[in-house]
Amino acid sequence: MKIAIGNDHAAVELKQEMKEYLESKGHQVVDLGVNSTESCNYPEYGEAVGRAVVAGDVDCGVLICGTGVGISIAANKVKGVRAAVCSEPVTARLVKEHNNANIIAFGARIVGSETAKAILDAYLGAEFLGGRHQTRIDMIHEIEER
Ligand code: RB5
Repeated sequence: MKIAIGNDHAAVELKQEMKEYLESKGHQVVDLGVNSTESCNYPEYGEAVGRAVVAGDVDCGVLICGTGVGISIAANKVKGVRAAVCSEPVTARLVKEHNNANIIAFGARIVGSETAKAILDAYLGAEFLGGRHQTRIDMIHEIEER
């Protein structure tokens, strides 16, 4: 898969580790985040990954900040984005199966690298279940139109 990754200063090390992990699994990673630990503003990177996903430049996105929350809130402001913050792999599987999340997010100050890898494996290995879940996703996107 082609995957965009984005991060702020709080997540430089974990981003690099996840980028290498994804590449080791055969994915192509587009790095839209920072590589400096100097303080920066996470909305820029959440938006960049969100726009890449919605434009179809990549298949999905990965966002990492301190908690995963701020950067995912920013991404969710881009129309068509469904970014979900996860701290463990069960939620990561379910956000794909039920919510068809097109971005997975987590916090570098919350999860360690082994949990982060398990989150990525669970998310990327899951399939959207469709049916009633699609109806609810359609309802979410109707909110964007109101
Ligand atoms: C940066 O200090 C921190 O606020 C950011 O990484 C993130 O946790 C925000 O949600």
